Amino acid sequence: MRKIPQQLIPLAVLFIVLLGVLVVARQLFVPKTFGDLGHYRATAVDEVAAQPAAYAGYRVCLDCHDDIYQRKQLSSHAGLACETCHGAAAAHATGESDQLPTVPRGRDHCQLCHGYNSARPTGFPQILSNMHNPGEACVKCHDSHSPRMAKGNGECSACHQMIANQKAVSSHMSLDCTDCHTVPIDHATQPRVVQALKPNSEETCGKCHARGSSAGAEVARIDMAEHGGRYLCWECHYPHLPEAKL
Ligand code: HEC
Ligand code: HEC
Ligand code: HEC
Ligand code: HEC
Ligand code: HEC
Ligand code: HEC
Ligand code: HEC
Ligand code: HEC
Repeated sequence: MRKIPQQLIPLAVLFIVLLGVLVVARQLFVPKTFGDLGHYRATAVDEVAAQPAAYAGYRVCLDCHDDIYQRKQLSSHAGLACETCHGAAAAHATGESDQLPTVPRGRDHCQLCHGYNSARPTGFPQILSNMHNPGEACVKCHDSHSPRMAKGNGECSACHQMIANQKAVSSHMSLDCTDCHTVPIDHATQPRVVQALKPNSEETCGKCHARGSSAGAEVARIDMAEHGGRYLCWECHYPHLPEAKL
């Protein structure tokens, strides 16, 4: 028989000691009902069931806030449960406590979902916080239970909604469509007969962004002759969302 390699002996001792510790630990620390219902502690079911429910579910809110629910279901926030924004409200809903649910009026809250994040799906409505009406509460303009804003007939956004929405969240949000487009009044009623024009000269941009322009000091100035080389401004900047990098 070959000699057992010397280092195996301490290893075997260590193995036996660890095995012993495991057996003892199992006796001492594994709860009694472990394994009765599979890989769980059977008493955990009763313990969890005995905890007071913190969330009530949206159906309970209907009893008293039906009007808000109806409005929300017709809006793009239809998929959000009340308690997603107002927090756990079971105590309030049962009337057992005069503690009211939280009302998240801060900008931070809306931005959990709407702050710009390149990982979000394309088309999900997002804003750049430092540009979208900075400093003002979202709920000043948006109804959180029906966040889309009403639009008048004949406004450009009634037909060009995508463009209007993009502009509204860009650094060009304060501009009117007609700052850049020449639009005959009848375009709004007969758009295919009476055409609106797209800018055909870089001067459209230059009247605000050229070095000597009379626009406010907060508007970034560029050298019209140098900047962008031989390309047109809108070959690099989408005019309705002009920031070159987000
Ligand atoms: C039994 C009726 C009842 C139910 C059910 C109920 N509420 Fe209310 N809720 C009220 C009343 C009444 C008030 C107004 C209390 C006040 O102004 O003092 C109120 C106020 C609120 C407020 C405003 C708090 C504030 O600070 O102004 C929120 C938010 C609210 N409820 C959310 C919910 C949610 C979410 C649910 C469902 C989980 C719910 N409620 C279920 C009766 C109810
Ligand atoms: C997207 C987040 C959000 C969701 C979802 C939401 N709320 Fe609100 N809720 C708010 C905010 C923000 C306010 C404060 C509005 C303000 O101050 O103008 C508010 C205000 C309220 C108020 C105070 C009264 C009022 O109308 O201003 C009640 C009551 C209320 N919510 C109940 C509900 C119920 C019931 C649901 C579900 C059907 C719900 N909310 C869903 C964000 C939300
Ligand atoms: C838990 C996530 C969540 C929160 C918090 C939230 N929203 Fe929304 N919001 C959504 C979803 C989802 C949509 C629908 C997106 C879609 O249609 O693809 C939406 C849509 C919108 C729209 C687009 C409306 C339209 O019809 O084009 C606006 C504006 C908006 N929310 C504003 C707000 C404001 C203001 C707040 C804070 C009071 C807020 N949201 C809080 C998830 C959220
Ligand atoms: C001064 C008014 C005002 C304030 C304050 C404001 N918004 Fe808006 N917001 C608008 C207008 C106007 C639009 C464009 C009209 C529309 O499509 O509803 C818009 C559009 C949006 C859109 C839709 C963009 C799209 O792609 O459809 C979202 C999302 C949005 N706002 C979220 C917010 C959030 C979040 C806040 C707070 C951090 C906020 N808004 C504050 C006026 C405001
Ligand atoms: C009643 C719906 C409607 C309204 C309101 C409207 N438009 Fe239009 N617009 C259209 C349609 C439809 C076209 C496409 C016309 C075509 O292809 O012949 C168009 C085309 C345009 C074009 C030209 C696009 C191109 O590719 O040449 C511009 C620019 C434009 N609109 C800007 C505006 C502006 C700015 C306003 C607000 C002052 C406005 N429109 C209001 C429906 C509308
Ligand atoms: C900063 C100047 C500027 C503003 C403000 C502006 N546009 Fe434009 N728009 C342009 C330019 C430049 C083009 C041509 C883009 C191109 O050819 O690639 C254009 C193109 C368009 C087109 C053609 C389709 C497209 O997406 O290229 C439509 C429609 C349009 N604009 C509508 C609008 C409406 C509606 C508004 C207001 C909500 C608006 N524009 C605000 C500069 C502007
Ligand atoms: C009526 C004045 C006006 C016109 C016309 C105008 N802009 Fe602007 N532009 C602004 C304002 C105001 C801002 C926001 C302040 C800033 O960031 O400089 C802005 C911001 C920008 C920015 C973002 C700057 C940054 O901070 O990253 C770019 C890029 C831009 N504009 C390009 C254009 C292009 C391209 C055109 C022509 C299609 C144009 N602008 C026409 C007023 C104008
Ligand atoms: C070849 C692509 C290209 C063309 C063409 C172009 N730009 Fe830009 N522009 C950029 C890039 C990239 C940036 C960002 C540069 C940076 O932040 O350093 C920028 C930045 C800007 C800024 C912001 C400058 C600042 O200091 O924040 C303005 C305003 C602007 N461009 C306006 C215009 C106007 C107006 C035209 C047409 C005369 C134009 N651009 C043509 C690529 C272009």
